Amino acid sequence: MDLDALAALAGTLGPESTGSAARRPGSAGPAPARLFSTWEITDRILPMAPNHLRRSLRANPDWPQGRSQEDGRLRWFTLDEVHALRRAFAASGGARHLPDRPPGAPLILTLVHPRPGTGKTTTAAHLAQGAAMAGYRVLVLDLAPSGRLSQLLGAPDPAPALPLLAAQAARHLRDENRLRLSRGEPVLTPDADLDGAEVRAPSPTAWAGVDLLGGGLTLAPADQKIAGWQHLIRSWRPWEALRAGLDAAGHLAPSDGPALLSPDAGYDLILIDTPPALGPLTLSAVIAADILLMPFAATSAEIAATSRGLTLLRSEIAAIETREGLAARALGETPRRFTWSALRTLLTRFDPATQTRAATGIQTQMGETLLMPRQEAVPLLADPDGPGTIYGLDYRTVGRDRHAALRRDPDAIQAAVHALMAEVWREKLAEAALDGPAG
Ligand SMILES: Nc1ncnc2c1ncn2[C@@H]1O[C@H](COP(=O)(O)OP(=O)(O)OP(=O)(O)O)[C@@H](O)[C@H]1O
Ligand SMILES: [Mg+2]
Repeated sequence: MDLDALAALAGTLGPESTGSAARRPGSAGPAPARLFSTWEITDRILPMAPNHLRRSLRANPDWPQGRSQEDGRLRWFTLDEVHALRRAFAASGGARHLPDRPPGAPLILTLVHPRPGTGKTTTAAHLAQGAAMAGYRVLVLDLAPSGRLSQLLGAPDPAPALPLLAAQAARHLRDENRLRLSRGEPVLTPDADLDGAEVRAPSPTAWAGVDLLGGGLTLAPADQKIAGWQHLIRSWRPWEALRAGLDAAGHLAPSDGPALLSPDAGYDLILIDTPPALGPLTLSAVIAADILLMPFAATSAEIAATSRGLTLLRSEIAAIETREGLAARALGETPRRFTWSALRTLLTRFDPATQTRAATGIQTQMGETLLMPRQEAVPLLADPDGPGTIYGLDYRTVGRDRHAALRRDPDAIQAAVHALMAEVWREKLAEAALDGPAG
């Protein structure tokens, strides 16, 4: 068995594209863009009396009118049309339909847990879809080689995320080479990834208002690549690279208020899903974050893993701080401390029959760090052929009452996270005001 045999074996399974299997009929393929009825819109997304929506549509023939389906009475809208309705209502005085979006740069929320299967990806998908349904514009970074989040969002083959970091490394390499040339020293040779690092525009998803950068299996060797670049370019700090890359790509541009899902507006939220590892890629997503969110279940194994995970995270980041500190002191600068605006934990796959006592204990121990709402275990989320998220579910398959009951947990979690985001934006505004206009 040699390398050519590996390639030949790969060839027997069809095209190289990692997304191709996802599109094969019968497999758990990309969630198709689903439609939203006047019931779901007025019940959940733009709360109002259904009659008010009907009257407003009649009075404004230029607004999206949706289309009727077999059942006749209801009209169905794409999410893009729902966004247009939100903009229209907001413009005609319906300020309560605007999301709470104080001015400032988009917030970065990173989901992290080194243990596999704690619910990072499922939570990320609900947060992305929920934020879009609330009127926020979202950029998702799917940094997990499983690519499951990309699949849940209906875009299994998105523009790659790794060039955000590679382009930063390449920039440092060029700076370093400039210095080397001026000193008459041999230059460093970039590898193919650095040489051709092209930061592409995020891909649209099946969820209007949610864009995506990912990479799936091509992200599997990301940590080794990053370590290699770091070894080559000693002045490059990979832990800063993700935020710097997002900034350089213009994704961190501040906004004055709700961008309101207009396609050319900037993002409100950058949501990062990480693999169950604490390699350089995950650490750079953790260090970039304004808000860290750790989902886990109230089982003894996951409680223990969460405690160990937090300790590990602390020691990995402390090691980076120490390294930064040595460099800063050598240059007479103040050593940098890494801080976050908020760290929150979330109970997922919760079973009220067996885990209520454990959950109450965790709540007492963790205080406000634990988000109050819990995501109960729901069989349809564990079903590989299911919609993957509750928000991806067409309510006609389960009925209105069941759908409303299923939505209760993710809706409560959305509300808690959106309130936290608004709090963080306001804190940042207050800090900026204290720093003064010179800062
Ligand atoms: N509330 C829930 N109820 C039932 N099953 C759930 C729930 N949330 C997640 N799951 C299932 O648990 C499994 C792990 O969830 P998920 O993929 O979100 O975890 P993860 O932390 O992203 O895993 P990994 O670390 O491997 O990426 C999946 O099969 C998912 O469908
Ligand atoms: Mg995952």
